[in-house]
Amino acid sequence: MTEVDKKLIAEAKRVREFAYCPYSNFAVGAAVLGESGTIYGGCNVENASFSVTNCAERTAIYKAVSAGEKDILALAVVAQGAEPVPPCGACRQVIAEFNIPHILMANLADDVVEMTLDELLPGAFSASNLEE
Ligand code: THU
Repeated sequence: MTEVDKKLIAEAKRVREFAYCPYSNFAVGAAVLGESGTIYGGCNVENASFSVTNCAERTAIYKAVSAGEKDILALAVVAQGAEPVPPCGACRQVIAEFNIPHILMANLADDVVEMTLDELLPGAFSASNLEE
């Protein structure tokens, strides 16, 4: 793991404290590295209408994109658990949309699993499938 990887995990842990998760009580933090070098953190934000919930990974990615950074180099996600937390299917699709090549999953005990995008979502549906 690089120093930047460690910073991403630290930021994901920091913003996890802000998770709004009154329904699941499962707090998640994520952080992404923009091409500029800026790190954007995000937490899960739940809703009484459960399906409206936004996962931590998507919050972090959408913050980066909203700041003008579509070139995202890495993503870290952290939650409490025996194993590092894996991104859900919807987040995998968003990670694929922005072609994020390097994904770090961690838990609070600092167990870390690293994956490439292809390992995370092989055969992803993408813009190329919309071409005639
Ligand atoms: N959650 C995330 O934020 N990221 C994940 O990778 C897995 C799930 C959130 C969604 C919901 O607020 C809570 O965790 C329980 O599913």
